[in-house]
Amino acid sequence: MIKKIGYLLLALVVAAATVGVMLLRENIATRKAEARQVAFQVVPLDETSDDPAQWGKNYPRQYDSYRRTVDMERTRHGGSDADPFAVGEHGVRKTVSKIEQDPRLKTMWNGYAFAIDFREERGHAYMLHDQKETDRVLKRPQVGACLHCHSSTTVAYRKAGREAGAPGKLTDPLLGPTGMEQLMKGFPIVSAEPYSNAVKRVEHPVSCLDCHDPQSLQLRITRPGLIHGLTALAASADPVPHLPSIERWRKGDRRQPYDANRDASRQEMRSLTCAQCHVEYYCASKAALFFPWAKGLKAEQMEAVYDEYKFPDGTPFADWKHATTGADVIKVQHPEFELWSQGIHARSGVACADCHMPYKREGAIKISDHHVRSPLLNVSKSCQVCHHFSEDEIKERVHAIQDRTKQLMDRALDAVCGLIAAIEQAKTNGATDDQLRAPRQLQRKAQYRVDFVNAENSMGFHAPQEAARILGEAIDYARQGQLAVATLAQKH
Ligand code: HEC
Ligand code: HEC
Ligand code: HEC
Ligand code: HEC
Ligand code: HEC
Repeated sequence: MIKKIGYLLLALVVAAATVGVMLLRENIATRKAEARQVAFQVVPLDETSDDPAQWGKNYPRQYDSYRRTVDMERTRHGGSDADPFAVGEHGVRKTVSKIEQDPRLKTMWNGYAFAIDFREERGHAYMLHDQKETDRVLKRPQVGACLHCHSSTTVAYRKAGREAGAPGKLTDPLLGPTGMEQLMKGFPIVSAEPYSNAVKRVEHPVSCLDCHDPQSLQLRITRPGLIHGLTALAASADPVPHLPSIERWRKGDRRQPYDANRDASRQEMRSLTCAQCHVEYYCASKAALFFPWAKGLKAEQMEAVYDEYKFPDGTPFADWKHATTGADVIKVQHPEFELWSQGIHARSGVACADCHMPYKREGAIKISDHHVRSPLLNVSKSCQVCHHFSEDEIKERVHAIQDRTKQLMDRALDAVCGLIAAIEQAKTNGATDDQLRAPRQLQRKAQYRVDFVNAENSMGFHAPQEAARILGEAIDYARQGQLAVATLAQKH
């Protein structure tokens, strides 16, 4: 009897298990079908599809998160913040003004457009809107090159290139010979136009097509500035262990220039797509847009490129002449890629997208969060996949790095403003240009370094020690400059 019950139980267990397995298989099958649907093409996409809404019909999940870059949320040193009193075009509020928050910046940039208007940056959805309405564009003449990083320009460049005689159709693959020729021919044409003309050629902020192939969806880079910049970087001797495809190219026969679209790994592309724009650059009317990477990605290597550079008209490189001291100075913009390159995360193979576009699960589907933003607003997905500390602890560690960087940067800013005041005083006392050469040179070096860390948007997080090193040098150069001025005064 007991034996019989045992058999019965066993049979029941086996039956239940079988049903369970069947259910599981069915579940997996539906999930798999769901996952396959991710790539189901509702509308055909090609190389002319620069409207993200079109792509959204095929990839609604990524499109939904992409659209959320309109959100604004503050973090201690980042995120974004609307100014309740500054209402811009179409009733959209502007972000807070960084030069009103810290007037030392106006002193440092005196005579340059950044001293007129410089605001907190925000999500990708605003990039074209914010550029059109900044006083740097409204009150100073600018060129079409500004659009390189503020709009979906891939199709616009190709159209301009074809109009100027580049062969092939607009629907030819971008990475084929005709597509690239169109792009590279159109880029300088659009860039040289007055901003007000060039802006009529574009409609959207950075779009799917700028980072993805419309057929295979593979990541790609489409920005001529980065394509040229990486060619120059690869040809330099600066070690870049975090970009193994460049190291590999250097060991090869070098018959063809380095080409990220051919050579880079998927993981490298997860950073290079961002390096299309989040980099230091020259962009104004005296020469074509370029990234100063011919000697490497470190602050002083880029400075050395500028120091050796001559504009086509023969004058030495400067972004502007400082209004009160007369120094020829350099303004740095958002060197996120360069600073990240010096940090432990890059060295460990952690890409921009790992922190800023982490995977998220929707049903059975794992998608990349296209809501690009501060990772501190998404610590569980952005950091806790690798770091097994509590969310609070992770934020504390980031804040510790950022607060220290901020304190050091404050000292460096004070030092630069101190030097500027000293040179002004020396000028009033009758110092000659010859006597002021050395102090002005030191102002250029000190300001470039403070600016480097100030313009970088992670407040030191992307490479804490490197940020501190650069700020330490800034303080040293500024104080050396003050000493030089003091020696002058003694001689008088
Ligand atoms: C290990 C994670 C990590 C990686 C990798 C990383 N970042 Fe960041 N990034 C951060 C953190 C943390 C901050 C600080 C955010 C804050 O203060 O709110 C930040 C800040 C930023 C900001 C300013 C965001 C804001 O809200 O103000 C930008 C822009 C940025 N990073 C771009 C990049 C780019 C481009 C790369 C690759 C070249 C990159 N990051 C790589 C973690 C990362
Ligand atoms: C190489 C890419 C690149 C080029 C070229 C470029 N920008 Fe930007 N711009 C960015 C990035 C990245 C940000 C966001 C990070 C930041 O604000 O530091 C930004 C932010 C801005 C902002 C918002 C924050 C602020 O500064 O008030 C404005 C306005 C702006 N750019 C205007 C311009 C103008 C005008 C030009 C042409 C002179 C230009 N940009 C050229 C990449 C670029
Ligand atoms: C076509 C140029 C371009 C590309 C490509 C690009 N960005 Fe940006 N990014 C910008 C500009 C411009 C802004 C500032 C927009 C504004 O303030 O109106 C910005 C803003 C940001 C911000 C600030 C958001 C906030 O809330 O303050 C982050 C973070 C960021 N980008 C990260 C990335 C990452 C990561 C990538 C690569 C996956 C990337 N970006 C690719 C141009 C670009
Ligand atoms: C600034 C660059 C950038 C832009 C713009 C962009 N993506 Fe992506 N996208 C990425 C990155 C990085 C990944 C991760 C790819 C990988 O790891 O292979 C990705 C992945 C994807 C994937 C693969 C599945 C996934 O989620 O990982 C799809 C589909 C996709 N993106 C659709 C879109 C669509 C649709 C748009 C426009 C609405 C868009 N992307 C705009 C950078 C971008
Ligand atoms: C893909 C994995 C990965 C992700 C995602 C990641 N990290 Fe890291 N992180 C590392 C590695 C690897 C190191 C190097 C130290 C080590 O090997 O443990 C590191 C180091 C650090 C350090 C020490 C930095 C230093 O200079 O010594 C901090 C702080 C940190 N991470 C914070 C963060 C934060 C905040 C995020 C999310 C915004 C994040 N990490 C996302 C892998 C990651």
